Amino acid sequence: MAKNIFPKGFFWGASTASHQVEGGTVNQWSEWELSHAQELAKTSHERIAYTLPDWQDIKKHAEKPENYVSGKGVDHYNRYEEDFDIAKKLNLNAFRFGVEWSRLEPSEGEWNLDEIEHYREYILQLKKRGLEPFLNLWHWTMPTWFAEKGGFEKRRNLKYWRRFVQKIANEFGHDLMYVITINEPNVYATFSYYTGEWVPQKRSLRLTAAVYFNLIRAHKQAYKILKRNNPTLMVGVASQLANIQAKRPHNIIDVTVTMWMRYLWNWWYLNRIRNQQDFIGFNYYFTDYYKGIRRDNPGAPRNDLGWYMEPEGLYPLLVRVKSHYKKPIIITENGVADHRDEYRQWWIEETIVAMERAMSEGVELHGYFHWSLLDNFEWKYGWWPKFGLVHVDREHGMKRTIRPSSEWFANKIDAMQRGELPTKNEHSSK
Ligand code: BGC
Repeated sequence: MAKNIFPKGFFWGASTASHQVEGGTVNQWSEWELSHAQELAKTSHERIAYTLPDWQDIKKHAEKPENYVSGKGVDHYNRYEEDFDIAKKLNLNAFRFGVEWSRLEPSEGEWNLDEIEHYREYILQLKKRGLEPFLNLWHWTMPTWFAEKGGFEKRRNLKYWRRFVQKIANEFGHDLMYVITINEPNVYATFSYYTGEWVPQKRSLRLTAAVYFNLIRAHKQAYKILKRNNPTLMVGVASQLANIQAKRPHNIIDVTVTMWMRYLWNWWYLNRIRNQQDFIGFNYYFTDYYKGIRRDNPGAPRNDLGWYMEPEGLYPLLVRVKSHYKKPIIITENGVADHRDEYRQWWIEETIVAMERAMSEGVELHGYFHWSLLDNFEWKYGWWPKFGLVHVDREHGMKRTIRPSSEWFANKIDAMQRGELPTKNEHSSK
């Protein structure tokens, strides 16, 4: 029988983001949704149909404007205790969530004390259930007043960010062990300022660079503020890393492009904050093969969003992250859009095998957070992509139902914690 390689304190968690689940958020994204929902619905066919394996099925949702409005979310703001109970039932022991800046500081410099108390209670309820809170400071949404000043485009705006971080540090810094500063700075800078698909829909290399540099500064400043307040806090980011590979491993062009892509997408940001991270946090969804300068991924298997799925690609990535940074690693997001729940169990199983394999080779992995606990609002795609371990029926009282793959995952965690492996791949058995 294989030994359980995951140590006792390993974090088995789920991840969420305030804007994607809470409901009732008023920020630059919610404003954009209201003014763009019609257009997003109208253009959905030309924008996304060709990328999806199952457009016929998705069409009825993607062509409706209400799909593009986060609105009531999944009412996690009011139902968080129920959701934490579900997380507990799934044998999780950690939970990643975001504090919504626009709730806490709806007008410049004015703190909403009720919302501060809301998150205080939220953290308390997590801890009560033995769910370690991983607080995420910023997951792409901001108060409208901050966005109107140019958000992270301007270095001088970082003073508002520092004030926000200081407030969080003062209020919650001693109730926490882990803080994640920024979610996927590379993705935000790219989609909001380079391809221009996301609010504020700008297309400028200069602004992409400005935002990216300011998000480096923002992380470093947050790190300093948080650690000054509580030196024992573990602080990191949730970067988006891809397993980037050459399509033709002996082709000089493919190999060179691969090296550059790895550097630019995966390492550039992390290298700059190398000394301001207590752990390396990253989100894994993609393995990408490069043929020349083009991505050339196999046509199958693909998830509902049309993303090629290679869960085992996590293994080479973990090994590389270890060799680059030599720090503990936490997988801050990982999951699959799968409304039929066809692939999720397979995805998680392969992911566990990849983690075991990396750990058996000395990778110091401290936790795994599945994206997501609940079906949620998937940014420019809206409501139809289903990433939840738990299905949420927004049409029928926001009813929560645990998906079969998640029952399986819960049992798996339990079995692993009791030291009863084995997973299907017995590479680590001795
Ligand atoms: C983001 C999440 C998003 C998920 C699935 C990650 O890049 O952090 O907010 O829902 O991917 O697309």
